[in-house]
Amino acid sequence: MAKITYIEHDGTEHTVDVPTGMTVMEGARDNNIPGIDADCGGACACSTCHAYIAPDWVEKLPKMEAMEEDMLDFAYAPDPARSRLTCQIKVSDDLDGLVVNLPEKQI
Ligand code: FES
Repeated sequence: MAKITYIEHDGTEHTVDVPTGMTVMEGARDNNIPGIDADCGGACACSTCHAYIAPDWVEKLPKMEAMEEDMLDFAYAPDPARSRLTCQIKVSDDLDGLVVNLPEKQI
């Protein structure tokens, strides 16, 4: 279980508990947090679960697979320094306190 804070583009914050084994995308979807569309349901095939990782968390997350890196090119305004596809980030206790910023829109 990890407490994750999702910050909408307008600054609205949502802090929720996300169970281990789920993804950061599923944590947003299951808590009805606006800003993550997840059109493909987590298959790394749409890039509409894009978010910006808080700078101090970027290095703590598991590295990106090539497929995620490729799909990120299709996201809206990706930032190479801290963009991730949230469906590719599995939640564990290590992610407790994670903060992600949601983009202005998804593609
Ligand atoms: Fe489609 Fe993440 S939900 S790429």
